[in-house]
Amino acid sequence: MIIAIDGPAASGKGTLARRLAEHFEIRHLDTGLTYRAVAAALLAKGLPLGDEAVAIEIAQNLDLAHMDKGVLSAHEIGEAASRIAVLGGLRKELVSLQKRFAETPPGAVLDGRDIGTVVCPNADVKLFITASPEARARRRTDEMLSNGKEATYASVLDDLKRRDERDSNREVAPMTKASDAHLLDTTEMDIETAFQAAVDIVAKAC
Ligand code: C5P
Repeated sequence: MIIAIDGPAASGKGTLARRLAEHFEIRHLDTGLTYRAVAAALLAKGLPLGDEAVAIEIAQNLDLAHMDKGVLSAHEIGEAASRIAVLGGLRKELVSLQKRFAETPPGAVLDGRDIGTVVCPNADVKLFITASPEARARRRTDEMLSNGKEATYASVLDDLKRRDERDSNREVAPMTKASDAHLLDTTEMDIETAFQAAVDIVAKAC
């Protein structure tokens, strides 16, 4: 079984993907981490984010089992990830890695921006998770503050809008809802309600 989940930052897609994977006892890949890991390696080497040849080499040697979510969650790395995500050759490399992960039995939940459209167009079920920018900014601000990070609602909202804009309007694999994806708007939902709604959609589809 392959479950494809897409949506913008802080829509709740990551938590839903992880919980669906546990529920259906399949593996989970947060594909945003693959872009973040490449961006972090470029930053650590002091190389420009546009150095696609090196980015591809880093992607070819990426170890999916050892990506450090804690380190990679830093705000600057998310921003850098969205900048390198416009590089077509790099995307090709990461997509092939992600496809291999998805196709390894017993299947998987993948979440990202282009899973239903590019990585797993034949997924058994596709979800596009969304929420208003304001709801997402509120959640992200609360999450950062509770992790002891500095954040203001206004700057988080600005960042999210900028990232949505870049992710939705890039030429290669822009973030978009696949025509056969189920839309789940979590603006008015807590995570438990959203999870139940997602389980119902998957159970009906599979
Ligand atoms: O989901 P996350 O915020 O970790 O993703 C970081 C960035 O990586 C996104 O803003 C997006 O530009 C890029 N990304 C992508 N395709 C994916 C997953 C993430 O372009 N499948």
